Amino acid sequence: MIQIHVVHRDNRRLYDYLFDEYFRLRYEIYVKERGWKALERPDGRDIDQFDTDAATYLLALDANRLVGGLRVVPTTHPTLMSDVFPQLTLRGPIRRHDVCELTRIFVIKERRGEQAQPRVEHIILCAAMEYGVAHQLSQYTIVMEAWWIRLQEQCWRITPLGLPVDIDGAPTVGVTADVNSETVTALRAKRGIEGPILVWRGLDRPALPAA
Ligand code: COA
Repeated sequence: MIQIHVVHRDNRRLYDYLFDEYFRLRYEIYVKERGWKALERPDGRDIDQFDTDAATYLLALDANRLVGGLRVVPTTHPTLMSDVFPQLTLRGPIRRHDVCELTRIFVIKERRGEQAQPRVEHIILCAAMEYGVAHQLSQYTIVMEAWWIRLQEQCWRITPLGLPVDIDGAPTVGVTADVNSETVTALRAKRGIEGPILVWRGLDRPALPAA
């Protein structure tokens, strides 16, 4: 059964054993598979300027195997959108305490496009929504290639922040995704995801806002 572990500087020591594999997997996916050359490094690890103590990682583990993940960075800190792709926003990057950025959303190759529900991608997106509700966020910002809009729109409400821009040959957009408990409920029902899926090992689970 897949569980999504919340990993932050306060409990990172419990997951240190996983991080080398995590950064190596990201390199495999983003540099080798996707060809994002700006991320090339001689050590074969994808570690960038946003992998700081401010980042939280949601890591999908299936029987201790890393099968996917994503990174959450507060928009009050430097983000991919604010520091690398501000041209994706017409009104300037969002910097708010109740808005975080999602980056490096991935599923390992062998677990993509699964027919059996719930598929890993949906579990990860549902986990992101659950995390956002737990932290009383109102929105996520995401830099994404345009092909992904159709699929993400099936999971949560997306609003463009600007016009598509060609980045290394791929039409790319900056968007927000609304965070709310209704979306968590709807995603769970639509994708066959049972109950809360986040594991807060070594962290105080934020109190949920009153329904
Ligand atoms: N360009 C265009 N379309 C793509 C694509 C790409 N790079 N990657 C996936 N798709 C399409 C697939 O063709 C498929 O389309 P279909 O529904 O019409 O068959 C659909 O997106 C689903 O993708 P798939 O990879 O089969 O399964 P998934 O839904 O389990 O996982 C991702 C989706 C994005 C999580 C997974 O493809 C992944 O981890 N990709 C690598 C990381 C990445 O590119 N992240 C997004 C960067 S913006």
